[in-house]
Amino acid sequence: MRAVELKGKKVVLIDQTKLPDRLKTLECLTVEDVARAIEGMKIRGAPAVGIAGAMGLAIAALGSKGKTKREILKDLKRAAARLRRTRPTGADLFTRLERVVGVAERAKGSAEEVRRAVVMEVKCIVREVDETDRTLGTIGAKLIRDNDTVLTHCNAGWLATGGGYGTALAAVRMAKEEGKRVRVIATETRPLLQGARLTAWELKRDGINVTVITDNMVGYCLSNRMVDLVMVGADRILKDGHVINKIGTYTIAVAAKRHRIPFYVVAPLSTFDPKSEVREVKIEERDRREIEEIFGKRVLPRGVKTLNPAFDITPPDLVTAIVTERGIVYPPFRKKIPEILRTP
Ligand code: MRU
Repeated sequence: MRAVELKGKKVVLIDQTKLPDRLKTLECLTVEDVARAIEGMKIRGAPAVGIAGAMGLAIAALGSKGKTKREILKDLKRAAARLRRTRPTGADLFTRLERVVGVAERAKGSAEEVRRAVVMEVKCIVREVDETDRTLGTIGAKLIRDNDTVLTHCNAGWLATGGGYGTALAAVRMAKEEGKRVRVIATETRPLLQGARLTAWELKRDGINVTVITDNMVGYCLSNRMVDLVMVGADRILKDGHVINKIGTYTIAVAAKRHRIPFYVVAPLSTFDPKSEVREVKIEERDRREIEEIFGKRVLPRGVKTLNPAFDITPPDLVTAIVTERGIVYPPFRKKIPEILRTP
């Protein structure tokens, strides 16, 4: 099962808003369908959003009536602009769109050649993601000892990468495959409950021991030594080691530092943004109804103000290490991240 797939001229994805009650797929026939699926969190998780975006470009290329390379490129760029407007914080979307548009620009020959180049690049990205998930898992599992309890936040599993293993959850899966006994504490992750709905669903299906807590129980679990290490994914990582991830990650990192519990981030290189400074990162602000309502039922008095940032920023001094497919990066991040990004 895959979170998102390109099937002919369609993007088929698991509608993650319906989990865990229903395992339902959704077919996107147009770029607009893909954009709306991303905005509506039907597909989510930075790497999976990146893949969906790339597949959106494949649909644009295949559906374009363009007869020349120039005409197809015009359609592709329009599609990329629409997809870029969906979610502003995760880096993968921008990395993937840039890569696919770049390939189309460099493609030689006819409109048909451009279409073929785009589809081949998207398939190549999918293969890479599978391989990367596996490598992240193998490397990340080294940080997990037999009998450890890992605290994770949001969903950094295969639903979030589109690959077979995920990022932070790939490490847990590999540790289990290696025969280690491993337990997971998953935060429910309000407002959209990706931890309760998705992480718990993924892990239960794999027979991994998972306990769900509400977000405000993290301090209790850490201070009572119920957690050996924290492992989370990331939506964007800057060259100086700032980690942008699901809202609440920063709070967990602060508490982990207070209790001297290692705080690890597991992320592919496609999530790194070597260009931006922390002040330039745009934190997505989502619809107030996500706070006002729980499953369609209003829980706030009318007229009360809300705040709904989808992500927060964890500064480098709270991060013990970052697991990438090229190895584990330890501080000083300002020196080590550019080095790992340069390594071929
Ligand atoms: O808003 P979401 O559900 O897309 O946020 C997802 C997260 O924050 C994940 O933890 C992150 O993308 C890492 S996933 C491999």
